Amino acid sequence: MHIHETIAGLRAALKEAGPTKRVALVPTMGNLHEGHVALMTQARGLADTVVATIFVNRLQFRPGEDFDKYPRTFQSDGDKLAAAGVDHLFAPDEAEMYPQPQGYHVEPPPEHANIIEGEFRPGHFRGVATVVMKLFQIVQPDTALFGKKDFQQLLVIRNMARDFNLPIEIVAGETVRAADGLALSSRNGYLSEAERLEAPRLFRTLTKVVSNIRNGNRDFATLERQALAEMAEHGWSPDYIAVRNKIDLQLPTAHESRLVVLAAARLGSTRLIDNLEV
Ligand code: PAF
Repeated sequence: MHIHETIAGLRAALKEAGPTKRVALVPTMGNLHEGHVALMTQARGLADTVVATIFVNRLQFRPGEDFDKYPRTFQSDGDKLAAAGVDHLFAPDEAEMYPQPQGYHVEPPPEHANIIEGEFRPGHFRGVATVVMKLFQIVQPDTALFGKKDFQQLLVIRNMARDFNLPIEIVAGETVRAADGLALSSRNGYLSEAERLEAPRLFRTLTKVVSNIRNGNRDFATLERQALAEMAEHGWSPDYIAVRNKIDLQLPTAHESRLVVLAAARLGSTRLIDNLEV
């Protein structure tokens, strides 16, 4: 695996690989787990050349969020990527990605950016869309892969690619879970031993909401309220549990069958997100 810290170096290497090669991009912020590895393996099956990126993007964190403490584990990440058959790792520093403060931004529309996760993390999706657009311009991939665990992020990026006519196929990767159901996340490492035991409740609560809907309960507001109360009873501070249309994340109409249930909740000082399609 070749490691590049500069845009020029990565571009030269991709040019050398040849213009007919199909390139897949998997952007990450590092601290890689089995969910990331599964995306790399999926990418390997879709392209001749797989490019992974590691860049903790300051633009998508708000003051007071975990930008500074976000785990930087470059050595072990590199080993995992090489083992997964990644060809190129692009790992720029901030000066390479933002040599001057970013003046132009990609502004996702409020109906995608200011709801659900965006309501609690204003500006987050603008930061994500802006860095992903930069990575798309730098790598110019044929396809790019994003995990479904960040369901709203996937929707924003799909719509951005469509609205800007980007010739990039956006591919979703399934959420990878621990045996007890907890969705794998770089932030799981923040959990204490006791919190790690409690953490799968998020998945169990989503599972319960989904099974109620599948059994014909369409009173989404009550289901959301009950789920929020159950989390709170067990010491969580939930931000939201939301039943949405999975195509556009808007409130579902009475007979909508394409549904997703999304959740974010804080356990101690760790904020976890997850979702389940109905
Ligand atoms: O999902 C992530 O890890 C990040 O939001 C991404 C897509 C790499 C952009 O910084």
